[in-house]
Amino acid sequence: MAQINQNFLELQGSYLFSEIAKRRTKFIQENPNAEIISLGIGDVTLGLPEAITKAMHSAVDELASPGSFRGYGPEQGYDFLVNAIIEGDYKSRGIDIQSNEVFVSDGSKCDVGNIQEIFSQDSIVAVQDPVYPVYVDTNVMAGRSGSFNKDKNQYENIVYLPSNAENNFKPSLPQSKADLIYLCYPNNPTGTTLTKDELKAWVDYAKANNSIILYDSAYEAFIREEDVPHSIYEIEGAKEVAIEFRSFSKTAGFTGVRCAYTVVPRELKGRDASGNEVLVNDLWNRRHTTKFNGVSYVTQRGAAAIYSPEGQAQIAELVDYYMTNAAIIRDGLKSLGLEVYGGVNAPYIWLKTPSGLDSWAFFDKLLSEANIVGTPGVGFGQSGQGYFRLTAFGSRENTEKAVERIRKLSL
Ligand code: MLT
Repeated sequence: MAQINQNFLELQGSYLFSEIAKRRTKFIQENPNAEIISLGIGDVTLGLPEAITKAMHSAVDELASPGSFRGYGPEQGYDFLVNAIIEGDYKSRGIDIQSNEVFVSDGSKCDVGNIQEIFSQDSIVAVQDPVYPVYVDTNVMAGRSGSFNKDKNQYENIVYLPSNAENNFKPSLPQSKADLIYLCYPNNPTGTTLTKDELKAWVDYAKANNSIILYDSAYEAFIREEDVPHSIYEIEGAKEVAIEFRSFSKTAGFTGVRCAYTVVPRELKGRDASGNEVLVNDLWNRRHTTKFNGVSYVTQRGAAAIYSPEGQAQIAELVDYYMTNAAIIRDGLKSLGLEVYGGVNAPYIWLKTPSGLDSWAFFDKLLSEANIVGTPGVGFGQSGQGYFRLTAFGSRENTEKAVERIRKLSL
């Protein structure tokens, strides 16, 4: 028998969203007539905008003809998409990104999960708590986490940075040196954002400590307020210390289509075992070309259409739709006297569970009494205990219905 990778045995239970799906399925089996509203995993519900489907249809037609057929494409993405990304997401904000710094992929989940592979085994990893579980779990699989401490509900070697109501869900800088720092803004799950000055403090920390910030910006399109940075590279010097992850999943309805990109600046350096500088970009390129064969041509044509004038107008409508849902949930829950956060620059609403219920107890109550699926805050980490996340990605009808059902609960 082959020996397995022992690190995998340190993983706790099942992946959060699989666990939720499992409980949902069980409930439906036992209550086949229940009309479930899913506001758990952040999965979008509106169809793809027309500009995107049109571009994808004509890409399919191109593939049907030998003259315009495409086989393997560049692993890093076609120029037409990379250039559209640079123009649309960076140049327009005065940020200079070169084409060899952009890596198109099939999703930010994969990129934020895989990026840790190129760093040393003994890197100290810091995460916000609560946090998107992929950052932690992939470091557990890599053997960087140490053992799980059941009492603390935390891994021994991971540096957890609590985000809670006391610090306005903006964690303090690490007390000790962290090598890799995962930041997510607008934040999943709490929905909070940082100002430019606040983000600058992280960049300054990273510079002072030779750390690398892994900046997950999957929810950038939902930013509504001024003075909220759309990219970490708006902060001077950030290209020396940060990798940025962006996704089309929530922005343009690509959760099933799959396309995202990662920016690894050429200025970003790490050190080898002898202390020599190494370009992180070269290593990521090496990894990407070895393990990935590129996103399909059809998908990349669809993604590039996001940046056309029609595409921009249509995705703005999508985002507005979801942010109106966010306001409906936020205002509805507030009017019930609940403590509610997020939902202003992010499609997530983070609420304090009522009556002192723990996160999973509230999950069960909501599922059994209101037939609503949400996400228990503790699933994102110990600091999420006593909190709960609802997404704004449902249909308008279901969002309004969900608020009405919650209104009828005795909380
Ligand atoms: C979430 O619900 O946190 C996200 O949809 C999960 C993901 O993007 O993988």
